[in-house]
Amino acid sequence: MKRIKQQCFGVIMLVIVTLLGWGVAPAMADEFTQEDLNRWESEYMSVVKQGRKVFTDGKLGTNGVACAQCHPNASNTHPETYPKFQKQLGKVVAIWEMINWCIRNPLEGKNLAADDPRMVAMQAYILHERRGVKLQPGKH
Ligand code: HEC
Repeated sequence: MKRIKQQCFGVIMLVIVTLLGWGVAPAMADEFTQEDLNRWESEYMSVVKQGRKVFTDGKLGTNGVACAQCHPNASNTHPETYPKFQKQLGKVVAIWEMINWCIRNPLEGKNLAADDPRMVAMQAYILHERRGVKLQPGKH
């Protein structure tokens, strides 16, 4: 009887240790080295910088107008309110679709693809300028 109890205890412990192992393994995968963090920060900041350039240099459209002329420091871009209904487009859109509206209209240019590096960079710049602002999707 005692032996059976000991065996049961052993099996239960094995199950617990295995379950703990599963719990711990993904947590360990989330531990980043300082080197990783430094690299990701510098890659991110270099894209923000590219975004600032695209936003300010007036080369995106055909008429030399720059985003920053109407949105200095990304003012009035309200990335924290997207996705939301935009009357110009008549539907709920992501912010890049509204950026394309400004490229087509005030800049008299052509749409950028959602994954165009300049589109990603402009969104990184706009969101970086507005970091810390409370998320309010759908708000006007
Ligand atoms: C001539 C002025 C002008 C220029 C240049 C301009 N915009 Fe706009 N932008 C506007 C106006 C007007 C709106 C519409 C405001 C509204 O209805 O929300 C707008 C709206 C936006 C919005 C949505 C704002 C919101 O509150 O939802 C974003 C994002 C935006 N512009 C980004 C850009 C980017 C990026 C560029 C350059 C590619 C650019 N704009 C160039 C005038 C301009």
